[in-house]
Amino acid sequence: MKNIVVLVSGGGTNLQALLDAQERGEIRDGKIIAVISSTSGAFALERAKGANVPGYVVNRKDYDSREAFTGALLDKLSELNADLIVLAGFLYILSPAFVERYENRIINIHPALIPSFCGDGFYGLKVHEKALEYGVKLTGATVHFVSAEADAGPIILQKAVAIEEGDTAEILQKRVMEQAEWKLLPEAVSLFCQGRLHVEGRIVHIDQAE
Ligand code: GAR
Repeated sequence: MKNIVVLVSGGGTNLQALLDAQERGEIRDGKIIAVISSTSGAFALERAKGANVPGYVVNRKDYDSREAFTGALLDKLSELNADLIVLAGFLYILSPAFVERYENRIINIHPALIPSFCGDGFYGLKVHEKALEYGVKLTGATVHFVSAEADAGPIILQKAVAIEEGDTAEILQKRVMEQAEWKLLPEAVSLFCQGRLHVEGRIVHIDQAE
């Protein structure tokens, strides 16, 4: 059974999707053992509480540098004995030392089809604003392993979502969450926990279910 720790910064709807999937028995061979928030008031912490999952705060504001902040996160994660770290709307880019320590054991969800509309500064609603501005007809979500460069690690799952006439960033964000994010993230986490993901360079191979 893999120990899953979810890192959050905000509302936590992706965390909720994971908790609901766990409740339905859809996270095979893994258990969400803790949620860590980078802000003290994150609603995601309420969601963790509601599911009886311990919630912790490692507040970015308490640390002078990214290194000090991610160092504190690393301490908490080793204390928790984490096997898999899931970034579910986590606002900060992790230090190279962090990423190296958990190579191919950190999963992130991004609300676009990487390599479009991603990288430093592309977060949350901003991603959808940029997609609408550019005029793409398809966007979607990507679940990937985290590497030192933002949003550039090996891709695990992607799902396309159509852009419709009259979309605002808010409408599009909701559609991408409902049609893609909330399904892809629990699926990827379950595949990881079952040991069905194999990384070869940039390519993630997925074993068929037995
Ligand atoms: C989600 O759409 C997630 O994909 C995005 O932030 C939102 C968080 O919502 N993440 C990124 O943009 C990462 N670059 P949530 O807190 O309700 O899950």
